[in-house]
Amino acid sequence: MYKRRQFLHGSASLAALAALGPLLPSLSFAADGLIKRAIPSSGETLPVIGLGTSGTFNVDPNGAEMGDLLEVLRLLMDGGATLIDTAPSYGNAERVTGELKKRADAEGKLFLATKVSSTGRAAGERQIEASFAALQSKTIDLIQVHNLQDTGTQLQLLRELKEQGRVRYIGVTHYVESAHDDLLAVLQKEKAIDFVQFNYSVGERNAERRLLPYCADNGIATLINRPFLRGQAFARVRQQPLPEWAAEIDASSWAQLLLKFILAEPAVTVVIPATSTPRYMADNLLAGKGRLPDARQRELIVQAFS
Ligand SMILES: NC(=O)c1ccc[n+]([C@@H]2O[C@H](COP(=O)([O-])OP(=O)(O)OC[C@H]3O[C@@H](n4cnc5c(N)ncnc54)[C@H](OP(=O)(O)O)[C@@H]3O)[C@@H](O)[C@H]2O)c1
Repeated sequence: MYKRRQFLHGSASLAALAALGPLLPSLSFAADGLIKRAIPSSGETLPVIGLGTSGTFNVDPNGAEMGDLLEVLRLLMDGGATLIDTAPSYGNAERVTGELKKRADAEGKLFLATKVSSTGRAAGERQIEASFAALQSKTIDLIQVHNLQDTGTQLQLLRELKEQGRVRYIGVTHYVESAHDDLLAVLQKEKAIDFVQFNYSVGERNAERRLLPYCADNGIATLINRPFLRGQAFARVRQQPLPEWAAEIDASSWAQLLLKFILAEPAVTVVIPATSTPRYMADNLLAGKGRLPDARQRELIVQAFS
């Protein structure tokens, strides 16, 4: 487990904290206290805050943007989190993830999640081998069938890779509410799916109806994408001060309110906001600590954003 002194290892980390300023109640930002939840199929626990990479990690692996992204990764690890979600279809994101892992000396310290988005077994095999190379990893923690593309074929391939020990967990994803019933149908038909990833937020609550209860009842881990509606969730609150009641649930920013709203659902395993901004990474990690909203406080959050 990372210790406070390890967290304060870099001047860039200190700069990120300083930039957070009043958002941070103190420098009490060590890994201790980050909530963890179990992956039902194994019992292994994961810190509830992860990191998405869509768009944000699609940069030149030799370019200047790598500086901030390295700091984002260091903050993630030093804050006690582990999970990064990427995909072959996110431009350079897998390569950038692999390169940052090397630069941060993070081998064995991350939970790497990627996806397969191919049609046909041969194409799936080629794409997955490219993911191993890009991520510079002998094993990948989780590979998910991206947006249910050629689900049956790719799940069979993933099961074989899991049996070989090259992939630890398998899953399926989507990102629009109109696909939730399709996700549910796959979970009901295909057995032994460890993870399902989908959209859920203050602005997109359909998952509360059937998907989240199904996952809770059937022991399936969940990754939550689009927690900030790709950043659009902040439009209504940008100029407004944080309400006083936010302190009741240990939230010191609007982003933390949005993430705590999601984490209040016990069937949520990990939420994966994307960012390329170190102070946002530090901010998001704080949402994984302290109290979570009850039903009344969740309603206040909904009202604040609607
Ligand atoms: N089909 C799929 O499987 C699928 C689909 C969609 C998403 N996903 C996964 O889910 C991840 C998250 O979804 P998303 O990328 O669509 O959107 P998101 O996480 O809802 O929003 C990302 C945006 O929020 C901003 N942000 C992050 N933290 C913030 C904070 N503390 N304060 C203010 N702004 C903040 C980021 O700004 P900056 O960029 O300026 O830092 C970025 O523009 C993706 O990256 C991907 O890994 C998967």
